[in-house]
Amino acid sequence: MSDSDTNIEKRERVQADWDEAADHWARWEPYIHNLLWPVSVRLAAGARLRAGMKVLDVGTGTGDMALFAAGVVENSGSVVGIDLSEDMLQTARDRARVLGFANVSFEQASGDVFAADSQSFDAIVGRFSAFFFPDVVAGLSHLRTLLKPGGRASFSLWTPPEVNPVFGIPRDALAPFTKGQQEADSFNPFRHSGPGLFATAMKEAGYAEVTDEEVGLYQFAPGCEAYWDILVKVSTSFRKQYDPLSEKDQHAVKQSVLKQISQYETNGIVRVPARARVVSGTST
Ligand SMILES: C[S@@+](CC[C@H](N)C(=O)[O-])C[C@H]1O[C@@H](n2cnc3c(N)ncnc32)[C@H](O)[C@@H]1O
Repeated sequence: MSDSDTNIEKRERVQADWDEAADHWARWEPYIHNLLWPVSVRLAAGARLRAGMKVLDVGTGTGDMALFAAGVVENSGSVVGIDLSEDMLQTARDRARVLGFANVSFEQASGDVFAADSQSFDAIVGRFSAFFFPDVVAGLSHLRTLLKPGGRASFSLWTPPEVNPVFGIPRDALAPFTKGQQEADSFNPFRHSGPGLFATAMKEAGYAEVTDEEVGLYQFAPGCEAYWDILVKVSTSFRKQYDPLSEKDQHAVKQSVLKQISQYETNGIVRVPARARVVSGTST
């Protein structure tokens, strides 16, 4: 697969963002797990994971989905988790070791150009990662070639901030200071968020039997300050808009976010609703 300098540069920038976030993902990993497990369940269903399968987890990060998949495919199956960020993968490897999984391995690679034998995987999953590809349709198309005929791929992304308080609250808090400007296209995680948009990309990439479903979930945190810490450290899209602001504007954004999320706090626990989208398709 040919690759342009622009795509290489875009991946390097995405990688740098996630290297920077990796320590915070390691620290808040149990809360990320509790936020995202309903998506893992839907991804496993969308990709029709079962015992004995060989699975690729694209953009595995700290390995949560890969470890879940490793349990589903049992010891007769195996999982390869790939990610651009070696720093994120470090946590994934540590977790696999602590949990005693022998059927999962991790390697640094970019999903959209991953060099593997064609038709070598039974299923592919990607939890909140494929929308970072420099060219989403080209990346999905490449992944399809790695699937056996009839194999399913399943990817998750976020629904738009308007219907997704976890992202709507910070977006509204930032709006007066960023003038509502979204980041450059390649870093806008919502560019395929609307109903049917990612499904269309999957079809353009050659997948059949494409399904598109929404999943409700909750972001938990032990208090408003912890919620803020997770947001400002774990969300690369938020950080990229927040960090360049003046100290005064940063303070105003923080106060606005804290005020909004305090309505979701009960007995010291914050529980903010979120909505994800899971899109799946078959390689023919
Ligand atoms: C939002 S995090 C999700 C991590 C993990 N899948 C999860 O749900 O916990 C996005 C991850 O995708 C990875 N990523 C972004 N672009 C990628 C690419 N082209 N190839 C592989 N990984 C990529 C990032 O490095 C990061 O670890």
